Amino acid sequence: MAQISLKDVSLKRQGKALLSHLNWQVEKGQMWAILGLNGSGKTTLLKMLMAEYFPSEGEAEVLGVKFGHGDIPSMRKKIGVVGSFIAERLPKMMKAEQVVLTGKYKSSILYKAYGERELNEARQMLIALGGEKLLGRTYYELSQGEKQLLLIARSLMEDPEIIILDEATSGLDLFAREKLLAQVEKIADLPHAPTVIYVTHHAEEITDRMSHILLLRKGHIVAQGSKADIIKPDVLEDFYQSPVRILPIDDKRFFIKPELDEIIS
Ligand SMILES: Nc1ncnc2c1ncn2[C@@H]1O[C@H](COP(=O)(O)OP(=O)(O)OP(=O)(O)O)[C@@H](O)[C@H]1O
Ligand SMILES: [Mg+2]
Repeated sequence: MAQISLKDVSLKRQGKALLSHLNWQVEKGQMWAILGLNGSGKTTLLKMLMAEYFPSEGEAEVLGVKFGHGDIPSMRKKIGVVGSFIAERLPKMMKAEQVVLTGKYKSSILYKAYGERELNEARQMLIALGGEKLLGRTYYELSQGEKQLLLIARSLMEDPEIIILDEATSGLDLFAREKLLAQVEKIADLPHAPTVIYVTHHAEEITDRMSHILLLRKGHIVAQGSKADIIKPDVLEDFYQSPVRILPIDDKRFFIKPELDEIIS
């Protein structure tokens, strides 16, 4: 059974179609990259997977829960999210380990019931990701990269079944970015191998294990499928509606470069 199933799903807001007729199935343990220009609906789609939006039309089912018919709060608890739309919701004065702990509740607030044991779980998660030096620090004082590490640790609390990363490398230096990508690759090695949905503007971040790609333009899925089927000049030129070149970085990673003459003219 698919972990994510969208059948002819559309989303309208204030009369405007933000997502149109999406059909998408994601199987357990798959890693998908989503590419799309600014405003194409990527974050909106992710918010829909978290049931922050319900489809205006069509059927959405995530982790066996049909939207409108199932237990949404417990479904949400099984999804870990890294993204600026989560970061914006976190109280600035929280300590690093408290930020990580919010991932246990999949909420931006901490429940009063938490105690030293829960806080220790959060500390251990942060330490496991190499963030020991952040313990005790206040969230708003941290650098972009340090904040991002907290969000990753936060997303991994409570063994999520799906991990969503929305432009998770924004603001990271080149080394921190590679480290994050290596951490994403390692997610596939976790005992229960969560499904990963990785949104980016940068094709060079599509790692070896991201085996499937979805191309989103103006709320429509233009193409989806295996990396080999999508990363082709004709598919990408049709998607970007502009000439692009696919430049290999090594035998696994690649870069998509727009043809400069077309941009300038
Ligand atoms: N709640 C909302 N009400 C009305 N319009 C919205 C709402 N949320 C998003 N939009 C609009 O939907 C479109 C898609 O937004 P979204 O944030 O999903 O794009 P995106 O692909 O994530 O872009 P970016 O790469 O810039 O992050 C935008 O035009 C945005 O203004
Ligand atoms: Mg976005």
